[in-house]
Amino acid sequence: MNLTDAAVVVTGGGSGMGAATAKGLAARGARVAVLDLDGDAASRTAKEINGLGLAVDVSDDASVQQAFEALVQNLGIPRVVVSCAGIAPASRVVGREGPHPLDLFQRVINVNLVGTFNVLRVAATQMTALEPVSESGQRGVIINTASVAAFEGQIGQAAYASSKGGVVALTLPAARELARFGIRVMTIAPGLIGTPMLLNMPDDVQASLATQVPFPQRFGAPEEFTDLVLHIVDNEMLNGDVIRLDGAIRLAPK
Ligand SMILES: NC(=O)c1ccc[n+]([C@@H]2O[C@H](COP(=O)([O-])OP(=O)(O)OC[C@H]3O[C@@H](n4cnc5c(N)ncnc54)[C@H](O)[C@@H]3O)[C@@H](O)[C@H]2O)c1
Repeated sequence: MNLTDAAVVVTGGGSGMGAATAKGLAARGARVAVLDLDGDAASRTAKEINGLGLAVDVSDDASVQQAFEALVQNLGIPRVVVSCAGIAPASRVVGREGPHPLDLFQRVINVNLVGTFNVLRVAATQMTALEPVSESGQRGVIINTASVAAFEGQIGQAAYASSKGGVVALTLPAARELARFGIRVMTIAPGLIGTPMLLNMPDDVQASLATQVPFPQRFGAPEEFTDLVLHIVDNEMLNGDVIRLDGAIRLAPK
């Protein structure tokens, strides 16, 4: 897809894979809206790429509606939407202090799953008004971020794995429904990627995690995620599917 002057949106764009993706899309000539709960972080990324930074809570109905109204006015209706916003707090089902706090489970589902769906539904509604840009009638593409934890959730990841499993399961029905508008829906399931989410863990935990990746035996770079996003944007046969980006890792129980 030609991204020159196209409006695109990246959630979670203040950090990690979202920030790298915002920069990668801008390098292709896109006009990027950077959405993040951390408005300062969104503005920092946006400033680097002459984009639009907005403070947004993806799990909140009004917040996402308002952000999309503002970005459509400023940049136009987005052709590409990449959802990277997410949180990954760990907690056991039966912990030392008692059962998994229910409000923590609900918060993870709310941000990672409800937030992804919230952005998808608002973005897709707007995209239906776009002119098709390919002979097949493609109007746009929505790319979500799950995790390999959707398939091999570790001990302590009950909430996180459930939320990402929901994102995986959302992909096909959304792609099927939006097909008649020429809107594709894809999901990337990263393994271990070197972003603040991982790099804030203790060094010994990081070293042990990295050795679990068969090849290449290292964390993925956020830019390798960006490369996959750009390929999905360009390859319109990719639709309704989940791609693992993981160096063949299969997470151990803990
Ligand atoms: N880093 C990894 O190894 C890894 C692996 C698998 C999946 N993921 C997923 O990739 C995505 C990006 O993660 P990352 O590693 O770049 O993490 P990160 O912590 O660097 O970035 C996540 C961003 O999301 C934002 N955010 C959190 N809650 C939000 C909300 N309610 N509304 C809007 N923004 C919100 C944060 O402020 C942050 O800037 C996440 O969905 C994460 O679950 C990460």
